[in-house]
Amino acid sequence: EEKKLWGGRFSTATDHVLEKLNRSIDLDRRLYKEDVECSKAYAESLHMISMLSSDEYTKIVEGLDKVKEEWDTNSFIIKDSDEDIHTANERRLKEIIGEPATKLHTGRSRNDQVITDMKQWMKSSVEELCSNLENLIKTMVTRANIEIDVKMPGYTHLQRAQPVRWSHYLLSYAWTFKNDHDSLTNLMVKLDVVPLGSGALAGNPFPIDRLAIARRLGSQTVTKNSMQAVGDRDFVAEFLFCASMIGIHLSRLAEDLILYSTKEFGFVSIAESHSTGSSLMPQKRNPDSLELIRGIGGSIMGQCCGFLAVLKGTPSTYNKDLQCDKEAVFSSFDKLMRIVELCEGTVRTLTLNPDRCEVALSSDMLATDVAYYLVRKGVPFRDAHGLAGKVVAAAEQKSVDIDHLELKDLKLISPHFDADVKKIWDYDNSVEQYQAIGGTSKKSVLEQIHELKAWLGEH
Ligand code: ARG
Repeated sequence: EEKKLWGGRFSTATDHVLEKLNRSIDLDRRLYKEDVECSKAYAESLHMISMLSSDEYTKIVEGLDKVKEEWDTNSFIIKDSDEDIHTANERRLKEIIGEPATKLHTGRSRNDQVITDMKQWMKSSVEELCSNLENLIKTMVTRANIEIDVKMPGYTHLQRAQPVRWSHYLLSYAWTFKNDHDSLTNLMVKLDVVPLGSGALAGNPFPIDRLAIARRLGSQTVTKNSMQAVGDRDFVAEFLFCASMIGIHLSRLAEDLILYSTKEFGFVSIAESHSTGSSLMPQKRNPDSLELIRGIGGSIMGQCCGFLAVLKGTPSTYNKDLQCDKEAVFSSFDKLMRIVELCEGTVRTLTLNPDRCEVALSSDMLATDVAYYLVRKGVPFRDAHGLAGKVVAAAEQKSVDIDHLELKDLKLISPHFDADVKKIWDYDNSVEQYQAIGGTSKKSVLEQIHELKAWLGEH
């Protein structure tokens, strides 16, 4: 059996079940590039303080490049003894360059190595995720711009509430995803703090220049307490939380669109490319894309809860429990990337049915506008609200829609009703009232589009 990198004080072989569970290479091999980059940065810091000769340093850098190339070209052969990516890379480096490889780990621990790798990996992955979110937002903004004149019922409690523009509805999600994007940008600040040089927990006993390591890794700051550094997985938890929130937002949108695509609503039709059929019922077209988005959103949340539970019980600094972060992060990331992309495609290819949206509007949704009408005539809002309620009741009593009440019936409720009351029964007028920032008037929706486009860097 191959000697373990930590095998010095051991004489008995590791139990084979523990061996299997302890082995993280199948997951953390994904960090190979970052592991090589961090090792190169660390080798440089050792060289700067003459703990590696120029020759040794050069050999290490060339050897590490070779190791990376093997991973790149799928020719790295993982051995049974390779516990994780760090031990695998070091083992291979030694095979390639010999002795100098044994100096690379001077003052370093896998504890500061693994989080540095992880943060580096997350920096580029979060960027990829952000660009996927931008695509989704872009698609929504494009649709919102084209379909700005379509009105639909806006709901609260899933009950018809007030007429809104379809674009306003769609942009409500665009803004939501922009907020998610902002959260990820905040997370980036934490990912940018470099822990390498913290050692196992007590620090680094050699006069290495940690800031130089950080700069080499594209950052400006380093962690300030080695014990905090090696035990910190808050950035992992935060990523998982952000991922869960995005999953939740995607899921809520999916739920809306599933509902809106039913025969009963019919506001949208999900494209064939994003639906599937039934093996039994020939007429079926099922919104599987949206259902998968909704379902997978739930399992991402589970990864977050699961990892928080892992963290909760761990004493200070590094414990092997923390190795569980890989599965949570990689699996959430992969799932999330796919559902964001799938959502973009589903939203881009769906057909909006403007007739069905507008037919779903009903005059009872204008009851608030009756109150606003009275307010504009000088009636205090609370009184106006009560009077508008009476209008609704009167219509109900007569079994007519409120827009079919006669002026004389209205005048019985309030003398402020006049011939111009007709203007209320117009959904365009209704949405156009909402001119204040963030409302559903055309002006306000166009401002939203303008602002989002500017944020996306479009004009
Ligand atoms: N594979 C480990 C992890 O991902 C690396 C750190 C191991 N450190 C240790 N002291 N066993 O957490």
